[in-house]
Amino acid sequence: MAASLKTPLTEKLGCKYPVVQTAMGWVADAKLTAATCNAGGFGFLAGATIEPGKVDAAILDVKARTKNPFGVNFHMFQPNAEEVLAAVIRHGVRAVSYGRGPDAKTIKRLKDAGVVCMPTVGALKHAVKAVELGADVVTVQGGEGGGHTGAVPTSILLPQVLDAVKVPVVAAGGFSDGRGLVAALAWGAAGIAMGTRFLLTKDSPVPMSSLERYLKTKDPTLIKVSTAVDGLPQRFIENEELKRLEEMSLPARLAMSAKYARHWGKEAGLGPVGMARLGLKVMSGDEGGFRQTVMAANLPTLVQRGVVAGDPVNGLLPSGQVAAVIDKLESCEELISRIMREAGDRLAALAKLTAVNAKKGSAA
Ligand SMILES: Cc1cc2nc3c(=O)[nH]c(=O)nc-3n(C[C@H](O)[C@H](O)[C@H](O)COP(=O)(O)O)c2cc1C
Repeated sequence: MAASLKTPLTEKLGCKYPVVQTAMGWVADAKLTAATCNAGGFGFLAGATIEPGKVDAAILDVKARTKNPFGVNFHMFQPNAEEVLAAVIRHGVRAVSYGRGPDAKTIKRLKDAGVVCMPTVGALKHAVKAVELGADVVTVQGGEGGGHTGAVPTSILLPQVLDAVKVPVVAAGGFSDGRGLVAALAWGAAGIAMGTRFLLTKDSPVPMSSLERYLKTKDPTLIKVSTAVDGLPQRFIENEELKRLEEMSLPARLAMSAKYARHWGKEAGLGPVGMARLGLKVMSGDEGGFRQTVMAANLPTLVQRGVVAGDPVNGLLPSGQVAAVIDKLESCEELISRIMREAGDRLAALAKLTAVNAKKGSAA
């Protein structure tokens, strides 16, 4: 029987189930976001990878596909951060997700407009800081999660953060089914957030050639954290391109990044001055030093090659370790229905266990 689970998260976000689809650059598009929301979950549109001038259209596209509330992700260091913030407020978007970056003033501006502020953090101190700055909900991503990720697994980070903050906490990193949802709720979380599991759905825009490579990866140890791409720890499927980057010397990697940076800057509509400004912004935002700033240009080019162009050999495939236990593509509707059915089964089994134990206790 499908579980009906109301939590502080479903109340704040106005969704039916405590299941969130996280923002994934170039993957969490309007179609995937709306499909999640139509299935009763809560989807985040990846606003950080929307080209300048196109944010309004992307938000309106989600609105045309679903009547349910949804969220938008952004980074303060993206060139069009102000465009995203203004559009979120103008269109009455329900929630935003972000990493480190927005200051208390920006968060207040969003909250005053009724937007739920829901950062993703990968370390205890960042969770505490995010709440101090005004977060309404915190998503905690354990090290097994996809994209940029920390070193502490969900099973340790989640209870640490639950003990330290008073706002609702959402568990991320390694979730894919109803067992995980019930486990997260048992820990005290208000729901789960998943990236990789939603990437591997029929509603995902990722081409089949790359999806097949994700589905074929059955060993979680081959979904590895690497700093070879942009200087920060990020988890990818180990493929030919990742191995090539890891074997490259640092000067060769920096030279390649410089080439990609020029190309990416042109696409993002930035001239040399804009590029220099962006570099300064990234560096001042505690995102690392010069090396990281230069290397950051690797990421958009190589990830787009993997998840947009569908080249699983010469592109990169960001992924959580959970991809190793996913063997089929479902629609968002099928996925969320199954998760809620499995959660219902687990809750019924637990209730039975409690009843048996209570009976034994009263008989003793
Ligand atoms: C392909 C891919 C792209 C991602 N891109 C972003 C991103 O642009 N911004 C972000 O904050 N997180 C990004 N992430 C992280 C996810 O939003 C999410 O926190 C993570 O995938 C959760 O772990 P899971 O994959 O085990 O579910 C990405 C993850 C994946 C798999």
